[in-house]
Amino acid sequence: MKINNPNQSCNTKKERVLSGMRPTGKLHLGNYIGALQNWVKLQDEYQCFYMIADWHALTSEYSDTSLILLNINEMLIDWLSCGLNPEKSVLFIQSKVKQHAELHLLLSMITPLGWLERCPTYKEQLQEIKDKDLKTYGFLGYPVLQAADILIYKANKVPVGEDQLPHIEFTRELTRRFNNFYGKIFPEPQALLTNIPKLPGIDNRKMSKSYNNCIYLSDSSEIIEEKINCMFTDPLKIRKNDPGHPEGCVVFAFHKIYSENIDEINSDCKKGNIGCVDCKKKLSQKINVSLENYRIKREKFIKNKDLIQDIISEGIKKASEIAEKTLQEVRNSIKI
Ligand code: TRP
Ligand code: SF4
Repeated sequence: MKINNPNQSCNTKKERVLSGMRPTGKLHLGNYIGALQNWVKLQDEYQCFYMIADWHALTSEYSDTSLILLNINEMLIDWLSCGLNPEKSVLFIQSKVKQHAELHLLLSMITPLGWLERCPTYKEQLQEIKDKDLKTYGFLGYPVLQAADILIYKANKVPVGEDQLPHIEFTRELTRRFNNFYGKIFPEPQALLTNIPKLPGIDNRKMSKSYNNCIYLSDSSEIIEEKINCMFTDPLKIRKNDPGHPEGCVVFAFHKIYSENIDEINSDCKKGNIGCVDCKKKLSQKINVSLENYRIKREKFIKNKDLIQDIISEGIKKASEIAEKTLQEVRNSIKI
């Protein structure tokens, strides 16, 4: 699929979606349920741009960059195996489309410092993350870079989690400011929120690499069974017949996502008709079935690194054409 006129683009009437993920390596079920599954769906309704945000990773990982490349590759395999489809969407790596940097620079000129210093994500992370020195220019400017990512494709919709809302709001304000100064170049992008309940980790904390409590998409069925066996359940339900309390049970939180007969599980647990061992077994089955397609595709992509390279090169090319076109408009309107 060649884009000859990037501004009108191949799918003329479709609105544009852009989203990105920092390259964190292999993805876990929480990443899939919380974001990727939705990204896959959006491909049919929108012209989608999905980006691996490696420059964003640098804003906090600048002192040890050894894992970034590896993480990009792991993530790409997961993206493709989950159904992000290069025939439908533009898949690319941020640092390979240099225009993001130019737009970031130009946007930085009109960004009031106060907007950045007041950003809640900035303040929180400065407080919470103590093992890294985040008092840098790059980290403060994170939202400007994110705004450039979005605006350079004139994206209309940005699917993100709730934690990212301040960045989208920032982008909207910056868009208005830019358009006021230089003419209406950019549409004001809107957040697309997914209100899917969050998957906890196997220990009932947030599912996160740093807690070592994740189930990865790439885990084998045996590993998934083992991890589910370790899941935190109702401590008062010791024998099968003991009445249980599904709320607060991690296994149940997962059933809510993966099983259709959730009312039945709920009442069987409460009445003591089902034991935790069986309940876990059922969950393992459900999750493993849900991963069947993923596993088939993963096999294919793992064996064919060249294919991945081709897909990403093509994505970078398409993204660059559109980004360059936007930048020409931007340079013209700034008269520079
Ligand atoms: N900041 C996002 C995150 O940490 C990743 C990201 C970078 C992004 N650029 C983006 C998301 C543009 C949406 C749009 O998850
Ligand atoms: Fe949790 Fe299932 Fe055990 Fe109930 S039966 S406590 S839902 S694992």
